[in-house]
Amino acid sequence: MKHNLKVDLNGLELKNPITVASGTYGFGREYAEYMDLNILSAISVKGLTLEPRKGNEGKRIAETPMGMINSVGLQNPGVYEFIRQEIPFLRQYDLKIIANINGNTIDEYCEIARILDQADVDSIELNISCPNVKNGGLAFGTNPKVVKEVVSKVRKATSKHLIVKLSPNVTDIKEIARIVEEQGANCISMINTVTGMAIDIHSRRPVLKRGSGGLSGPAIKPIAIKLIHDVYQTVKIPILGMGGIMSGGDAVEFMLAGASAIAIGTGNFVNPTLPKMALEGVTQYLEDYAYESTQHLVGDLR
Ligand SMILES: Cc1cc2nc3c(=O)[nH]c(=O)nc-3n(C[C@H](O)[C@H](O)[C@H](O)COP(=O)(O)O)c2cc1C
Repeated sequence: MKHNLKVDLNGLELKNPITVASGTYGFGREYAEYMDLNILSAISVKGLTLEPRKGNEGKRIAETPMGMINSVGLQNPGVYEFIRQEIPFLRQYDLKIIANINGNTIDEYCEIARILDQADVDSIELNISCPNVKNGGLAFGTNPKVVKEVVSKVRKATSKHLIVKLSPNVTDIKEIARIVEEQGANCISMINTVTGMAIDIHSRRPVLKRGSGGLSGPAIKPIAIKLIHDVYQTVKIPILGMGGIMSGGDAVEFMLAGASAIAIGTGNFVNPTLPKMALEGVTQYLEDYAYESTQHLVGDLR
């Protein structure tokens, strides 16, 4: 049977449901040596800021059982260099470009969105897990009032397809999802990393120079599945799901929970050809269980 793998993320057409997650794929250059990037339906590029950033200093990655904790920070060449150097590189491939944006302030988010509005990107993904400098460094995405303000202002700053990426580090993710939908986002991506910490018992110091970081990988998969299931029942806009996907079977699990498409993150570090394997796995599942299209899978939880 020929399966229909296409996905419509409410205005962003994908040729298949497999994408890669921001911060785990750079701008695709390193991975192009291992896998044909044309397999991907989209790439969410490393988090962009207005100015270039070096990221955090010292040790910034710690391995943990079934995952890793990172405090890489927003190491990136800045939005202008991205437009000059990375968009032409990515345009050699048949994939959609999702620009992941980050700011210290709401004004900064809006400025990057306005700049990208004039650039050749297919979608803007608003990472609201950044610390809000004007609000004691608390992440934008944890305060419903701030979420409302940042999403509504960025929505006005661009007419591009807009994805808002949710943090799992909140009390009520459904409330946040509802606000994001009301403020005009086209799509929700979830989940970002879960806060975590590791301690070296010999030095009795945190393993990471910054103390704590974001946990990713298979360890967070059950958290992602539960939160996606909750948000799927709360909003009508589509969900781009991520959090510990390591196989085609995992991708199917996310879709059954309610994700219309998925992103592979930490799994790329373990196996740089994982997106290809995941696509094959999803296609085989459609065949085995006689689904006509991936879209029939979405939320088909019995
Ligand atoms: C090293 C690293 C860097 C990341 N950088 C970003 C980023 O710049 N922007 C963002 O929105 N998410 C970032 N993330 C979060 C991932 O995109 C993803 O949401 C998260 O890791 C969960 O998926 P996974 O378990 O498959 O990795 C980063 C994750 C890792 C591991």
